[in-house]
Amino acid sequence: MKISIVGSGYVGITTGVGFAELGNDVTFIDVDENKIKAINSAKPPIFEKGLEELMNKNRDKYKATNNYESILDTDITFICVGTPSKDDGSIDLSFVESAAREIGKMLKRKDGFHTVVVKSTVVPGTTEEVVKPLIEKESGKRAFEDFGLAMNPEFLREGSAVDDFFNPDRIVIGVKDDKTREVLEMLYSPFNCPKLVTDIKTAEMIKYASNAFLATKISFANEIGNICKKLGIDAYEVFKGVGLDHRINPAFFRAGIGFGGSCFPKDVKALIAKARDVGEEPKLLKAVMDVNEGQPMRLIELLKKHIPNLRGKKVGVLGLAFKPDTDDIRESRAIPIVEELLKEQAEILAYDPKAMDNFKQLFPQIRYAETPNEVLNADAVLIVTEWKEFEQLDYKGKIVIDGRRVEKAREAAIYEGVCW
Ligand code: UGA
Repeated sequence: MKISIVGSGYVGITTGVGFAELGNDVTFIDVDENKIKAINSAKPPIFEKGLEELMNKNRDKYKATNNYESILDTDITFICVGTPSKDDGSIDLSFVESAAREIGKMLKRKDGFHTVVVKSTVVPGTTEEVVKPLIEKESGKRAFEDFGLAMNPEFLREGSAVDDFFNPDRIVIGVKDDKTREVLEMLYSPFNCPKLVTDIKTAEMIKYASNAFLATKISFANEIGNICKKLGIDAYEVFKGVGLDHRINPAFFRAGIGFGGSCFPKDVKALIAKARDVGEEPKLLKAVMDVNEGQPMRLIELLKKHIPNLRGKKVGVLGLAFKPDTDDIRESRAIPIVEELLKEQAEILAYDPKAMDNFKQLFPQIRYAETPNEVLNADAVLIVTEWKEFEQLDYKGKIVIDGRRVEKAREAAIYEGVCW
C-alpha cells in the first residue's frame, strides 16, 4: 500500500519504517527540515534501537518531504503528530488540527477513496468531533463515505518501539464504516496478534485506559514501596511475590523515583482534564500523579540523611534520560532532582550515555562527565536512570542513593534504595 505519515517523531518514524519493512511505500511529511534531511539520508531523526538498520535496509521504500501534496499519491494517511499538554494539563490539539486541515485541503483535490487514520494519542471524541469536521470542511467531502476515517492507537515504548511495532500484544482499530475497516485489516494482515475492532471513541479510550493503568501500577508499587522502606522490607521481593499471581502479572512493578517520558504524565493529566470536562472527579488518577510527583524528592531526602548540608558538596547523577535506551529527557525524573540539588547549592556532575546533549540545553550550568566512572568520584552518587552499563561500575567505598534498583550498586559502602 502507499502510506503517508504526518509527523515523524518516534511514533511516526517507527510506524512508517515498520510499514516500509512490510513492503509498503511510505512518505513522511514533516515541517522540520532537519528531520526531513535526516530521514532522506537514512538517519533516524531520534535515537531508537534498531531503527537505523531498518532505515538502511529499506532506503528505497520511503522518503520524507514537507509537502502535503505527496498525500495525493498515497492510499492512507496516518496522523502521528504530538499532542502535548496545555498549562492546565488538558490536551493541546493544535498539531492534530493543523494536520487535519492540510489533509482536508489535499483530499479536495483527490479522486477516489482515501483513508485517514489518527494514531496520535487523542482524548475520546477527538477524531469524530475535531478531526472529522476539519477534514470535511476543507475537502468538501463526507467522512465514512467519500473518505475513510479511523483511530488506531499506538502502544510503542520508546527504546523498544521497533520491537513493539513488529510484536504487538494487540492491534486496536477504531472504525465506523466497512471500507475503512477493510483497508486497515488488509494493512495489518501480516500481524498475528489479537485484533480488536471497536468504534472510534472506544479505540481512543483504550489508549488512555492502558497508559493510565500502567501509570497506576507504577504509583501503586511506589506507594507500597514507600511503606516497605519505612518497615525495612524490600519492595522488589514483595512485588516478585505479588506478580506471580497470574491475575496481576509482574510487569511495571519497578518501584523507584516514578514515571517520566512524553506519555504517562501527559496522558494521565489529559484524562483527568477530560474527566472533569464531563463532570467526573477522577480521584484515583489524581493520586497516581501525586504519588509520582513525590518520588524524586525521596531520593534527595535519603541523600540528606547521609549528607545533611549539600552546599558545595559534589553530587554525582547517573542517568538523565527518562528511562534507559533513549536520549529523551521529557518529564525525566532527573529534572526535579537536579533542580532540587541546585537549590541546595550542591555541585552537580552528571552522566548519561545518550541524553547529555538534550539535558545540557535545559541545564547548561551543571557539569557533565565524559565517563560514568568520573561521576563515582563525587561525595555521593544518585542513580536516576537504570542504564545497563551502570551495572558494570565499581561502587565499592561510595555513598550511593539508588532510585532505580541497580543491583551492582548495593556493594557501595553506604547504599540506600528509595523503596527497598
Ligand atoms: C509508554 C507505554 O509503555 C507504551 O505502551 C505507550 O505506547 C507509550 O507510553 C505511548 O503512549 O506512546 P514509554 O513512555 O516509552 O511508553 O515508556 P515506559 O517503558 O512505559 O516507561 C515510562 C516511565 O515509567 C519511565 O520513566 C520508566 O522509568 C517508568 N517505569 C516503568 C517505572 O518507574 N516502573 C516500571 O515498572 C515501569
